[in-house]
Amino acid sequence: MPKHDLACPHLGELTPYQSARRIGGSGDVWLNANESPFPRDPMVMDVSEYHRYPDHGPAQVHTAYARYAGVDPSRVLALRGADEAIDLLVRGYCRAGADRILLCGPTYGMYELCAKVQDAGIVDVPLDADDRLDVEAICAVNNVRVVFLCHPNNPTGNALNHADLEAVIAHFAGRALVVVDEAYIEFCPERTVVPLLETHEHLVVVRTLSKAFGLAGVHVGFLLAGADVMDTMRKIVAPYPLADPCAQIALHALADEGLARMRREVELLAAERDSFAAALDTLPCVAHVRPSATNFVTATFPRVETAWAALLADGIVARRMPHPRLADAIRFTVGSAADMQRVLKALAPLPGD
Ligand SMILES: Cc1ncc(COP(=O)(O)O)c(C=O)c1O
Repeated sequence: MPKHDLACPHLGELTPYQSARRIGGSGDVWLNANESPFPRDPMVMDVSEYHRYPDHGPAQVHTAYARYAGVDPSRVLALRGADEAIDLLVRGYCRAGADRILLCGPTYGMYELCAKVQDAGIVDVPLDADDRLDVEAICAVNNVRVVFLCHPNNPTGNALNHADLEAVIAHFAGRALVVVDEAYIEFCPERTVVPLLETHEHLVVVRTLSKAFGLAGVHVGFLLAGADVMDTMRKIVAPYPLADPCAQIALHALADEGLARMRREVELLAAERDSFAAALDTLPCVAHVRPSATNFVTATFPRVETAWAALLADGIVARRMPHPRLADAIRFTVGSAADMQRVLKALAPLPGD
């Protein structure tokens, strides 16, 4: 059969998202995907109804997440990870070949990838030298349909300034959706923009159970928004967005005991992060450790290739980022105390500049 390229032409040059799993690596300390180091407990599941399709909703998960997030259940949509929320928002709001998204790099790579898949344009208004939003430059951009703000931002690790967020959200009322990706918000819960949902119909908040809740393998995320956005999302979402085992695990995680556990683990990880960051900062081979409000620490190295080689030689898989501004940086997920000691031990002998 002759080879015909029937795929959409704009996909020809597209590189798939370089997820930590796709990049792979070899080692025994995995600090490359911002996953939780805490294993989950075994769980008994009711499989008796698995000959039927799952709930389209699923209403119980929506109610449980709404209770946790402090919103009305009508504002919650459970999905296959925050990634599906990002994809649906681009598909629902950007016409192929016509509309554009705005992002502030360096930031999470899926905003760009989803835009490219949709054949939407991308306007990048870089974060400033202190990793803050350049509010003036962002608000000077016309004709974008979706503005993605990652708060706290991956891979820089900082939470965005609240006044800056409010200014951008206010500016785009009636002009574009503003999507605040709060994948790491459990590490700084007081910084959430969820209260602004009440007064801003064009605001969307994206959340996940993959990070602080330690459920990356279950891959459940949430989209929080007002009635209009929800209406659009319900038109394009897959008929059964959550498999029932995922819904059952999500419910378990969102019950009182699950929430208490998540908060305990966040506290442990935040303490580990702070002591790791402080120790990293004292090493001669490290130039700068960025402050982090997340479960990862991004540091720059005068000789990044040497640092990277030392980590690999010791079986430590961390993350390099493709963004030119982070060419000399390595991002470390905060793992167990033993994992972080391994990192420090691998880097300690390296000389400075
Ligand atoms: C900022 C940000 N948003 C979304 C995601 C994806 O989350 P999920 O696992 O729920 O798809 C990630 C994963 O690393 C992330 O860093």
